[in-house]
Amino acid sequence: MNGGLFTATAVAHPNLAFVKYWGQRDPELNIPINGSISVNLSGARTITRVSFDPDLTADAVSVDGSPAAPQALARIVRHLDRVRGLAGITTCARVESYSDFPSAVGIAASASGFAALTLAASRAAGLALDLRALSVLARKGSGSACRSIPGGFVEWVAGHDDATSYAFTIAPSDAWDLRVISVAVSRESKPISSLRGHRAAFTSPFIAARLESVAQTLGLVRVAIKRRDLELLGMTVEREALSLHAVAMTSRVIDAPWLSGIYYMQPDTLRLIQAVQAWRSDGLGVYFSLDAGPTVHLVCEARSVAQVMAALDEVPGNDTYLRILSSPGRGVWLVDEAAGGDAPTA
Ligand code: PMV
Repeated sequence: MNGGLFTATAVAHPNLAFVKYWGQRDPELNIPINGSISVNLSGARTITRVSFDPDLTADAVSVDGSPAAPQALARIVRHLDRVRGLAGITTCARVESYSDFPSAVGIAASASGFAALTLAASRAAGLALDLRALSVLARKGSGSACRSIPGGFVEWVAGHDDATSYAFTIAPSDAWDLRVISVAVSRESKPISSLRGHRAAFTSPFIAARLESVAQTLGLVRVAIKRRDLELLGMTVEREALSLHAVAMTSRVIDAPWLSGIYYMQPDTLRLIQAVQAWRSDGLGVYFSLDAGPTVHLVCEARSVAQVMAALDEVPGNDTYLRILSSPGRGVWLVDEAAGGDAPTA
């Protein structure tokens, strides 16, 4: 307690899914139709401070220095309500959140955002939840956020109800000297949010085929991580990302009838994918992944980073791209501001 305020600050990394979450069995609880596997991205982070303040009459939320937009605010207030429900309190909160990377371009700001919010809010409310309970709670804010709670390489088991759908570490962050270079080729916001994409997924004739293959894909990625087999990981991850996009491109969005399908790629996304395949035919060990956005995530081993960066320098238009270099990152953590730790800054 601090002058009537209960405050906590937490930091989380976004994560890159090797096997993707696309489609929900339960949209209220964000229970997915399939399991997924990801790695936390050390090069990007969200820091969130939460103070429960008896003087407030409503939750006050700022994101990257500005008041949260109505939709984001409603989503954050719903998450605070979950925390208040667990803690048995009704006090309103002040939330300040900053991310050091652009949102809505295919780097999961909602994952790091809801993971940091979950830890900061639950601590500020006096709860001491274990990793599984934090993961369950974060999932309800944004599905992929449950994978930013544990560290390193993470699997989210789809589960069948609220308690059984959670994420855990399958290999620690130092298990494999892997690197991800996230290349934001466009700052255009994605046309359709992942929330709407999940809901539209069932309208694609290819969702059944995707679901049929995903158990095998999960198995291959687990083996690749265990054996540190970059080729197996990379080829599996590329096909997996393209499978999500095949579903998205053939989905109907109920409230956007003018769209025949959802395109998350921009022209530069495809240009870079083709460049990666050409680099590989020249012997460079690098693979791509895509989330629901134009950003291309390049996956390689630490020893190849300089070569991949040099190859990127040759791509026409690359001077407009933002590059974020990550190694496998840790799970969500608390910051002790009183001890001079990281404080939220713009
Ligand atoms: O957690 P959401 O609702 O933002 O969905 C994330 C969806 C993808 O990033 C495309 C895939 C994934 O597994 O992270």
